[in-house]
Amino acid sequence: MNAIEADGLRRTYRQRTGWLSPKLIETEAVRGVSLSVARGELFGLLGPNGAGKTTTIKMLNTLLIPTAGTARVAGFDVVRQTREVRRRIGYVFGGDRGLYDRLSGLDNLRYFAELYGVPPREQRRRIAELLDLVGLAGRERERVEGYSRGMRQRLHIARGLLHEPQVLFLDEPSIGVDPVAARELRRTIADLAATGTTVLLTTHYMAEADELCDRIAVIAGGVIRALGTPAELKGGTGTLEDAYVSIVGEVQPA
Ligand SMILES: Nc1ncnc2c1ncn2[C@@H]1O[C@H](COP(=O)(O)OP(=O)(O)OP(=O)(O)O)[C@@H](O)[C@H]1O
Ligand SMILES: [Mg+2]
Repeated sequence: MNAIEADGLRRTYRQRTGWLSPKLIETEAVRGVSLSVARGELFGLLGPNGAGKTTTIKMLNTLLIPTAGTARVAGFDVVRQTREVRRRIGYVFGGDRGLYDRLSGLDNLRYFAELYGVPPREQRRRIAELLDLVGLAGRERERVEGYSRGMRQRLHIARGLLHEPQVLFLDEPSIGVDPVAARELRRTIADLAATGTTVLLTTHYMAEADELCDRIAVIAGGVIRALGTPAELKGGTGTLEDAYVSIVGEVQPA
């Protein structure tokens, strides 16, 4: 069984704009995305701003209902079995939101462990493991407001892993993270995949995708333009960036 199975996913956003004569604006953010991700695979979703990557992730993690198409995550339907899906997935969005600045890293993790229903007996062990995994052990009693961006991002990842998800969605996890911290982050992500967690990752850093991903889908204009291993995409010559530019370069911006 594949960890992620998407079949013809579509999502149209409808927005009202204007006040005197409101208009309905429709954006076809995702226009028929099909992909399969195997268990334990580290799968990358690359594409320009507005390509539909976050929208695709939000349909897979049950935050958005697809306009059309179906998807199964960890074997469950993302629309009809949201509860089953949610129990088995974690997600981390890049950026600063979603943590409690006034609390320590440890208290943040305790809070979210409670929220995610991690049994009290397991919380202590689980939190200690995760602090180790993301390299925050020793800093956990400091308030998050004093954490650097990279430390916050790693705390986010620990939060996303509290309930031992089978599938982890990482939307630009390394955004704003310095090169050294980003390298540690990549190691963390690779370790996760090596222990059987399926990871779906978006990034704008081609070297990161090249190093980490087993396979990559390049998405532009809501459509998958290319899908394969980094080596297949590169086709024997050039860098992944070269391949990426030639794939998305053919697409007119929306
Ligand atoms: N809540 C929303 N309402 C209306 N339109 C939206 C909404 N969210 C996204 N869009 C539009 O859908 C399209 C895809 O956006 P999405 O956020 O999925 O792109 P992305 O690939 O994640 O881009 P980025 O690399 O900038 O994060 C864009 O045209 C965007 O403007
Ligand atoms: Mg995005």
